[in-house]
Amino acid sequence: MNSIKSLKNIKGKKVLVRVDFNVPVLNGKVEDDFRIQKALPTIKFLQKKGAKVILITHLGKGGETLLPVEKVLNKYVKAVFVADIVGEKAENAVDAMKNGDVILLENLRNNDGEKNCDKTFAKSLAKFGDIYVNEAFPVSHRADASIVLLPKLLPAYAGLQLENEVKNLSKVSKSVKHPFLFILGGAKFSTKMPLIKKYLKTADNIFVGGALANDFLKAKGYEVGKSLTDNGDFGIKKFINNKKLILPVDAVVTSPQPSPYKGEGEFVNKKASEVKKDEIILDVGSESVKNLAPIIKKAKMILWNGPLGKYEEKECRATKEVLKMVMNSKAQVTIGGGDIVAVLSQMKINTDKRKNLFVSTGGGATLDFLANGTLPGIKALK
Ligand code: 3PG
Repeated sequence: MNSIKSLKNIKGKKVLVRVDFNVPVLNGKVEDDFRIQKALPTIKFLQKKGAKVILITHLGKGGETLLPVEKVLNKYVKAVFVADIVGEKAENAVDAMKNGDVILLENLRNNDGEKNCDKTFAKSLAKFGDIYVNEAFPVSHRADASIVLLPKLLPAYAGLQLENEVKNLSKVSKSVKHPFLFILGGAKFSTKMPLIKKYLKTADNIFVGGALANDFLKAKGYEVGKSLTDNGDFGIKKFINNKKLILPVDAVVTSPQPSPYKGEGEFVNKKASEVKKDEIILDVGSESVKNLAPIIKKAKMILWNGPLGKYEEKECRATKEVLKMVMNSKAQVTIGGGDIVAVLSQMKINTDKRKNLFVSTGGGATLDFLANGTLPGIKALK
């Protein structure tokens, strides 16, 4: 990949920067701007060199405006929002740009050409730029027009955060330090199966939490009641007895209303073997968290993806407790996935302060990169 750091003499050049400002928006307000913040060094780098910076991004599945994003972006850098993507308005705005200006075009997914990977759409976008930069790691697993076609139409470069993602996520595969602990939570067993298979080879321990653990407990013959599972045969039985795998020994459960636990709190911590048919597992239990403590303490490398419990419920206690232990450990830590990033910011953990910590901006892209070592958007840059 060519890095933007190798760009020379770009004063007055129009740089089309594909960012991923697909941030959570509630009632017209951006709830978390981590991804916007992580794109700032690239934007400022180009601006300082006198380039004209044209930002393009998607938000949601399409149909939404980037106005809330523009408000947050302007807290950090002066940027003009243009409510158009490839029409006359956008053309005029690009033509009127001065060196060092930044503009943000409207949500790419409001044009079907983006998701359909349409060549005409890509060509219309390419007209705006002399150079293309991919600073959109979180969406680089999608073969969308702005991700895989634009780099074929313009000289293409990698943004600073994209480079960081590749460098840090590659370390987890290429320069493993032992003991290496992989903590895997969240749901959708089918999408995480390749990771379990891959890291059973290189990690010393894999702790499985979240809804994923329910699939394992079920395969072990435990009752998981009405808990979330990803029904299907994923060949779990083949590695369920692998000594590297650590499963929760207890769980926080609840019962559909009316709860029999009213009065003693609606949530009860019980052994994994004692879950009843009408119960729902919401979180990893306290004993399991305790069991993890010495493993975290000894670890030299920790990779974590996905929350350990239903993170909207009961303040996701296990995830928070384990996060604290991980932050206090001496390990080199890599964290990926939007949900954990949200918990980190809820806990007001300053991730810049901890040494040897990398927090990925990606969700699905991080998983795909960890499993395959590359992504379509990264391949397209070469
Ligand atoms: C993400 O949030 O994971 C990326 O922005 C990709 O979004 P998508 O899953 O809607 O393609």
